Formats: sequence, C-alpha cells, structure tokens
Amino acid sequence: MSEHDKVLMRQWHPVAYAHEIGEKPVSRVLMGERLVVFRTSSGIHAWKDLCIHRGAALSLGCVKDDTLVCPYHGWRYDGTGGCVLIPQQPPEQAITKQARTIVYECREEKEVVWVRLGSDSQAADLPPFPEWDDPAYKTVFCGPYPLRASAPRVIENFLDVGHLAFLHEGHLGDSAYPEIADYRVEISEAGIRSSEIDIYQPDPDSTGKSGIARYVYEVLGPTAARLSKTDPLTGHVFSILFAVSPIAQTESVVFVALARNYAFELPDAQFADFQTFILQQDQAVLESQRPELLPLDLQAELHLKADRLSIAYRKWLRERGVVWGTA
Ligand code: FES
Ligand code: CO
Repeated sequence: MSEHDKVLMRQWHPVAYAHEIGEKPVSRVLMGERLVVFRTSSGIHAWKDLCIHRGAALSLGCVKDDTLVCPYHGWRYDGTGGCVLIPQQPPEQAITKQARTIVYECREEKEVVWVRLGSDSQAADLPPFPEWDDPAYKTVFCGPYPLRASAPRVIENFLDVGHLAFLHEGHLGDSAYPEIADYRVEISEAGIRSSEIDIYQPDPDSTGKSGIARYVYEVLGPTAARLSKTDPLTGHVFSILFAVSPIAQTESVVFVALARNYAFELPDAQFADFQTFILQQDQAVLESQRPELLPLDLQAELHLKADRLSIAYRKWLRERGVVWGTA
C-alpha cells in the first residue's frame, strides 16, 4: 500500500455489485491493492491477487471444487486462503503452512460486495441507508462509475450545493436563482449533517416536474455520503447513497443507490440513466480539478458561506487523520 491510512483501512469499501461476482474470479483494485474476488459455495471471497509461489495473479485462475486454482502451476487454495494442493509434489508430502494467500474481510450485503483491508478489531459500520430495508422505498443501484479523481474530491463534489444551478442547469438548478440560503451543519464523530436547504429544481428526478426540493446532506464516512431530497408539497422523498471506492490516490469508482418513495410504476432505468447523465457532467469537472488531492489546509482554496459543507468535510477528514486522496 503506497499510503498508510488507518481510517480508510477500517472502512468497508464497495468493490463490486453482487451480481457481478460468480465463480469466474475477477480482479479489483482497492487502495492500490490488487484483489481477486470470486464466489464459492461458502460465499464471496476477496483475497490479495497474488499466488505465494511465483506471484501470479490468482484472478487469472479459476474455481474448481470450491478451491481457487492458480493459473501458473495449478496450486489450489481453499475458502480460508490456505493452499490445499501442490500438483508438483507427492500427495503424501505435507503442504507448508506458509503456503496461503492474504484474505481480506468481505461481505455481501444490500446487493453490494464490501471489503475492508484493515485487520484491526475497529471495523467501521457499513454506511447507513435506512431506505434499503424500508418497504415504502424502491431502491435502484447504478454504476459502478470509474472516475479519474480522488475519492475525497468525489465526495466533496456530491456535497457541493453551489454547482447545481450551473453544472446541472435545467435539471437540478437554474442559474437565474444561484443564491444558496444560509444553512447549518452538525458535525459529530459519526459524520456531518446539513440542515434543510431549499433549492428550485427544473427537473430534479427526470420525471419532468419542476419544484422546490428540500435537500439534506449527510457525510456517513470518509468516502460515503447521502443526500435526501424531499418535495415539501407532496412528501416525495428521493435519496441517494454515494459510496466511493478509493482505487488509487487519484482514481475512484462510485457505487450509487437511488431510493424513492413515489412513482414505483416508472422504470428504474429512467432514474439510473438520469443519475448517469448527471454524473457525467460532474465527471468532466472532477477530472479537471487541480490539485487532484483534496487540500485539507483551509487556506489552500477560497470558501464561501455556501461551501460550509465542504469546509466541514475537509475539517472532519483532517481531524480523523485521513491521508488517502488528500493533501
Ligand atoms: Fe501460482 Fe506457481 S505461481 S502456482
Ligand atoms: Co453534481
């Protein structure tokens, strides 16, 4: 790992949607670490993508009889990561205990495969998104979206209220109404939460209806955030979970869950496509931002009152000692 970051090592990061993972091993990168992710009868596994024999990528191998077979010399590893077969030696010869791969904690939950790289006992919780278990909501997953931007820059973009009227003009804002009403932020150990921010939206969810949306932003972890938009007239709620997987210091993959408590009859793809369209607008700007690492020194960039959330996020990261993707 090129940069030691205890805080991010404790987090559960999304590495794939569960439906992407079958018996065929796939390779993923998380915080610079190459992983092999695959499924056996006991569930999904995420290991260091490295055979202990000659360093071949196990993701080039295959699953046979619930073991992962290295493509190079056919060594086999069982579900615990221990080598159980070395074809080049007689079967009665014991296999050295050192012949095992590095196994990471991995869970399949809410359609997402989550991995944490740290092995200390202080695991963070999964980012809370109560809509997942609430039958009043319909959830659709979209992405994953790869971005050439640091995970903290991506989260800050998600929290940025001021850009809606410009970058997403005609959809999430109107440049004739660019001012942001004053709002507050509450900062806690668990994260950050904004007060309600009313924003005029020409077409906030691709259903073609304009209105005021009442935005509440939450930072759920160093690389996870949530936005809940309420229409005060109808009580319609549209919530977005943004879970950003840090790949390299300046590379990320975004996993997005969209939940709505209305318009169940509309196709989910309509909401997912709209999210993709909005994210492409953000992507162009995100990949252009310099410095690429999010500056945590508040003197480094200029801030407005409307940037209160970003300021709080930068402070929160600094207080927790997050170094990955920041400067
Ligand atoms: Fe994997 Fe030789 S490198 S078996
Ligand atoms: Co945006």
